[in-house]
Amino acid sequence: MRHAKTLSAGAGLVAALLISLSGCVSGPQQNQSAGNNGGGAKTGPVKIGFSMDTLKEERWQRDKQLVEQHAKEVGAILDVQVANGDDAVQTKQADNMLTQGVDVLIVAPHNGEIAASIVEAAHRQGVPVISYDRLIKNADVDLYVSHQVEKIGEMQARYALDHVPHGNYVLIGGAPTDNNALLLRKGQENILKPAAERGDIKIVANPFAKDWKMEEALRYMEDALTANNNKIDAVVASNDGTAVGAISALERAQLAGKVLVTGQDAQLDACQKIVEGTLTMTIYKPIKPLAYSAVDAALKLAHKEPVNAPDKINNGKIDVPAILQEPQAVDKNNMVNTVIKDGYHTLEEVYAHVPKDQWPKATASNGRKAEVSPFIAAFSLLLAAFSWVR
Ligand code: GAL
Repeated sequence: MRHAKTLSAGAGLVAALLISLSGCVSGPQQNQSAGNNGGGAKTGPVKIGFSMDTLKEERWQRDKQLVEQHAKEVGAILDVQVANGDDAVQTKQADNMLTQGVDVLIVAPHNGEIAASIVEAAHRQGVPVISYDRLIKNADVDLYVSHQVEKIGEMQARYALDHVPHGNYVLIGGAPTDNNALLLRKGQENILKPAAERGDIKIVANPFAKDWKMEEALRYMEDALTANNNKIDAVVASNDGTAVGAISALERAQLAGKVLVTGQDAQLDACQKIVEGTLTMTIYKPIKPLAYSAVDAALKLAHKEPVNAPDKINNGKIDVPAILQEPQAVDKNNMVNTVIKDGYHTLEEVYAHVPKDQWPKATASNGRKAEVSPFIAAFSLLLAAFSWVR
C-alpha cells in the first residue's frame, strides 16, 4: 500500500514536472478582476467567441464546422463571426463578442498585426485569446494553435527540389498580412536558397498574392511565363488556391501537367488535380485535431485551468505557448493512404473526374469520410461487411 502511494506520488511529481517543462498556460495575467472572466472560478456553460477572417477556402468551412461540432460536444455556447477579409469588421465583431460577455476568444486573424488590438481589448476584460492557425503578432496572446507552418514551407520546397533539382523556379506566396505566408516563405527559402546559391536552380519570381487570391496567383504566373519564354520548371505555390491560379496560367500556355506545382490544404479540387496530374503535391493538415484543441483549450482557459502547450513561437513580443500539429506531404502515390484513409475526402470525390478503371483498388475503410460524418463511415463499413458475408 505504502509502495503504491509512493509510486503514485512519484508519478504525480513526474507529471507535474513534465507539464512545467513542456510549457503550461492558464490565461491572461493582467486585469483578472475586470469584466466577465474576472472574478472567481467560472460556473455554467463556457461562452466561446470564434472570430474568423474568411470562409473562402474550403478548409475554413471545415474549421468552422468542427469547432461548432466540438463546442456542442463539450456543452459550450459558441458564437462564430466571419469578417470576410475586412480588418475593421473583424475588430468590431470581436468587440461585440466581448460586449456580449464571451469567456474566451478564438481568433483566426485576417491581419496578424492589426489583430493585436483584439487581444488588448480582450485582456482589458480578463478574457483570454487563442490565436487560431495564424499567429497574432506583438501581443500577449495566451495560446497559439496551428500546424508547423515553417516546416510546411520546407516540405513543399524539398519535394520540389527532390523532383526538379535544376531549372527555373517561381515562388507564389500568400497574403503578406498573414504570418503564415511569411513562415511558409521562410521554410521554402531554407531549402531553396542553398540550391540557388549552388546554381542548381534559379528563382525567377517570388511574389506574394494579396489575400491568397487565386486571380493574383494566375496573373503572377502569366507574368513569369512571359518573362521567361515559358521556361518554368517548378512552381512552389504556398497553398492550393494559389496553386490552382498558377495551374490556370499553365493551362493557357499548354504547360499544365508538365511543370511541377506544390500546394497546401488538401482541398478537394487540389486533390482532384493531383490524381489528374496537373497539381503535383499538396500538404495535408488534418483540421479536426486543430479545431478540437482550440475548443478544449478554450474551456480550460475559461476555467483558469492549465493548458498543456508543448511548443512555443515568438510573436515579436513574447514566446507564445503553442500546440502545433504535424503536416503531411501528399502526392498521387499516397493520396489513398492519407487524405482518403482519414476520411478527409472520399475516394469517389477525389477520383470523380478519372475514368473508373483507373481508380486505385481501395478498401471500404479508405472510402469513408470520417472527419465530417462518422455515420457515413460506419454505414459503408456495414455495407462492406454485408457484401463480404454474401
Ligand atoms: C493560411 C492557412 C492556409 C490557407 C490560407 C488561405 O493562413 O494556413 O491553410 O487556408 O491561409 O486562407
